[in-house]
Amino acid sequence: MTIEIQYVNIRNRLIELKEAIAFFNKELNSERKHFPAFDTAMVMKSDVVIAAINKEDIVGIIGMKKKFFFGKSYIIIKEGYQGLGLGKRLIKELLYHAKNKCSMLYGVIEKDNKRCIKLQNKFGTTNAGTRGDLEYFTIPLDNLGRILCFLIRISFPAIKLVDRIKR
Ligand SMILES: CC(C)(COP(=O)(O)OP(=O)(O)OC[C@H]1O[C@@H](n2cnc3c(N)ncnc32)[C@H](O)[C@@H]1OP(=O)(O)O)[C@@H](O)C(=O)NCCC(=O)NCCS
Repeated sequence: MTIEIQYVNIRNRLIELKEAIAFFNKELNSERKHFPAFDTAMVMKSDVVIAAINKEDIVGIIGMKKKFFFGKSYIIIKEGYQGLGLGKRLIKELLYHAKNKCSMLYGVIEKDNKRCIKLQNKFGTTNAGTRGDLEYFTIPLDNLGRILCFLIRISFPAIKLVDRIKR
């Protein structure tokens, strides 16, 4: 069976599609293992949202919430659609739509989420550092972003030191 996935920028249709997003969220199960924080509210507050759509159904979502120069990104794909290349395509779409909105993207991945780490590595992301079980990755979108990514990477040891002192 061949599936035809549409990749649609739904940022301006979030109200109209709220029920479909809530349904996608409700149907998630094992996908939450590495991403328990995902919910409908997170999508509704995003500044970029791209949905992977099979027929009428949302089967994957990538998004980004902007704060100053930074865009915090997330991605989640329904289990039956994982490993088919949707993740790669959604990241390409996010990079295209996030350009001109912020200078860099960042995200947090659990250390044992090998599939997601492999996926991010394909797009020139930098592992800025680790905190506990989490890896922080960054990807610049412009020259300011390159400087910010560098500054974050070199300041990570200090952040970890503060973590240790606080413990
Ligand atoms: C992580 C996730 C977004 C990846 O998306 P995906 O559509 O499954 O990934 P793709 O099919 O595009 O594959 C991308 C790369 O991942 C790696 N990959 C794919 N399937 C894999 C598997 N079974 N085991 C290990 N690596 C795998 C490969 O390197 C692949 O690239 P390649 O085919 O060129 O070698 C998706 O699996 C997912 O939604 N997981 C649950 C939620 C989650 O973890 N979100 C991220 C939280 S930060």
